[in-house]
Amino acid sequence: MSATIISGSLIASKFREELKQRVKILSETWMQPGLAVILAGDNPASCVYVRNKAKTCEELGIRSEIFNFPGDISQKTLLQQIQDLNVNPEIHGILVQLPLPGHIRIDEVIAAIAIGKDVDGFHPCNVGALVTGHALFHPCTPFGVMKMLAEYDIPLQGQHAVIIGRSNIVGKPMALMLLEKGATVTVCTSRTRDLANHTRNADIVVMAAGKANLLTSDMIRTGATVIDVGINRLPDGRLCGDVEFSGVKEKAGYITPVPGGVGPMTIVMLMNNTIEAAERAKAVALAGGWHSSVQ
Ligand code: GUN
Repeated sequence: MSATIISGSLIASKFREELKQRVKILSETWMQPGLAVILAGDNPASCVYVRNKAKTCEELGIRSEIFNFPGDISQKTLLQQIQDLNVNPEIHGILVQLPLPGHIRIDEVIAAIAIGKDVDGFHPCNVGALVTGHALFHPCTPFGVMKMLAEYDIPLQGQHAVIIGRSNIVGKPMALMLLEKGATVTVCTSRTRDLANHTRNADIVVMAAGKANLLTSDMIRTGATVIDVGINRLPDGRLCGDVEFSGVKEKAGYITPVPGGVGPMTIVMLMNNTIEAAERAKAVALAGGWHSSVQ
């Protein structure tokens, strides 16, 4: 039997309609939400991602400002730009597109973002708060995966989730979010010894290794849920995920495609986080600002 396809494109378009309404309310009653995106260098994939983020902002009515710096920008200039955005009242979310050029200290740059504007959820305070289940913002890709699982009522409590990939952007926050929902979580990498031994025991497999066709049908249990976060470019130019889709879809219970799976959800969750940041800023402004209760 063929798996049910979890269409990220469909779920994302439903979310976009809800988000448009929230933007409309903010714009009519207070101000337009604003997102600043910082791009350093000309990494082709990053340029495409940033263009798509700006396009989605426009579609939803979110103000977007793109700061496109050359690859040799100094860390000092980058930090100054972030400081300016931190205090700009028209900007509610700040995103620094990764990867950054090699001479820039990513950890120092991310830590400079005001935590209330950290819509990527990468600031060390937000990462720490995620561990206790209290993050201000959830990293967009794993947050999108959680929404996809919820949309299809896929049970998590007591289920065994196996994540392949240990990145700060996907693997680690994904593990924490699944743990928070009561799943039993195993985190592997593409180099884990006898990987199939882990994936065959999984009710849910999340692939985030960045290796084309790493997961094959012999590596999963019949009826498992397979989420593919990988985006790989094949030598012939086509995009594919980390899952050997045609074989795995015949054995899995649920599966996400690439493209049209997790990708569209990542952008929508970024928009959600930006709107949430603006809604919080509005609540603070209406209450008389940060200092009113302390004076
Ligand atoms: N590069 C790849 N994915 C992401 C993401 O989710 N956020 C940022 N800032 N950079 C990325």
